[in-house]
Amino acid sequence: MQTMKREVKGYPAPSHLATITDLTPLEAKAVTDAVNPLIADAFALYVKTKNFHWHLYGPHFRDYHLLFDEQAEQIFESIDVMAERVRKVGGTTIHSISHIAQLQSIEDDNNESVSAGEMVRRLMEDNAHAADMIRSAITVCDKNRDSATSNSLQDILDKTERRKWFLFEIVQGTKYTE
Ligand SMILES: [Fe+2]
Repeated sequence: MQTMKREVKGYPAPSHLATITDLTPLEAKAVTDAVNPLIADAFALYVKTKNFHWHLYGPHFRDYHLLFDEQAEQIFESIDVMAERVRKVGGTTIHSISHIAQLQSIEDDNNESVSAGEMVRRLMEDNAHAADMIRSAITVCDKNRDSATSNSLQDILDKTERRKWFLFEIVQGTKYTE
């Protein structure tokens, strides 16, 4: 089995993958380096959200099960948008699970059992962290004349903050009603 031992560079791409662009190499590299970690985090958060969707138990089962699935779907949709932005500016993007592991800043959750309230709290924190990362990447894209990536990320940031908001209010509910 071929494993990925060396660090993968997203830029410069091999010449046949180096999509032509009016961005300078430095600008394209800055965008690539800012966006690829967001994609790795989206994969990590997608799997974690699905993990919680599958391993949920307790009185809130139906509500959270459905919410987590809706949120996972939204995260999954963001992945292709971001990866194709990187390709459009001539960078290369995620190749594999081990590549994701190199770039992710959202931790995997391998606990056998997590309470429903703790699931919501962890996902809230992860979505808040993702929002912070996306906002920083938008600044990088703006500085490097890539308003199209910036624009895509703004929509993804809005959806991330919506997920965080829902999770935050559930956390408030569990504090004040239980
Ligand atoms: Fe399902």
